Amino acid sequence: MAERPYIVGNWKMNGTRAMLSEARAIDRAAQRYMKVEVAVAPPYTLIHAVHKEAEQIGVGAQDCHPGAEGAHTGDINASMIADAGAKFVILGHSERRQDHGETDELINAKIESALDAGLRVILCCGETLETRDAGEAEAFVLAQLKAALPAFQDPAERLTIAYEPIWAIGTGRTATPDDIAAMHGAIRGLLDETYGAEASAQVRILYGGSVKPDNAREILATPEVGGALVGGASLSAENFLGIVVGASEAEEV
Ligand code: PGA
Repeated sequence: MAERPYIVGNWKMNGTRAMLSEARAIDRAAQRYMKVEVAVAPPYTLIHAVHKEAEQIGVGAQDCHPGAEGAHTGDINASMIADAGAKFVILGHSERRQDHGETDELINAKIESALDAGLRVILCCGETLETRDAGEAEAFVLAQLKAALPAFQDPAERLTIAYEPIWAIGTGRTATPDDIAAMHGAIRGLLDETYGAEASAQVRILYGGSVKPDNAREILATPEVGGALVGGASLSAENFLGIVVGASEAEEV
């Protein structure tokens, strides 16, 4: 594994200022697990406040507009989230693809704008259950990535991939370690081909989809799993820290 395991909480459309105490608790506890890199992506409205609480953990956003400032009512671009204290942005999440019709081309433009603004990027990919049952999961995910991956500037150390099978998100179902290892291996192959083995080795591949304290250790010990993108279980400091502990234990195996 290139670096420390990376555990990222995606708060989605959850959280008011009352959640700041959870962020504080996560941050203070994360200082005990220095072998794990911990981050949270709160909604835009809390980025600045969570950033002010965060001494140890990274703070990021869940999306950004690809353009420069201008007449785009309701949108927020990469330099604005960087100014608010974000160090990374999650792009291409399946909920953005489904709810907002985001295409791979749009996601590629967002990635380029985020990298230009100095942000790190977590690029999400993942197949539906229908696609998996048809035996086309790997081809589908690799096609998503090929279309969205940035032209290589120097993004290896600023790029993270998150494989999130859509049928595992928020459902309590997780992919088996064998399925995860096979998909992550295929993604690694694509990264090697695209960027060369040395640069590719710097890109962590996270798994996401119903990661919880009780399955974290097994998932994180799976070959080629460089961390986890966590939705539901990141909303409570106790659950999220249980996953951080799992990552720390998996590191020691
Ligand atoms: P979940 O969400 O952990 O609630 O399944 C993961 C995600 O969508 O990033």
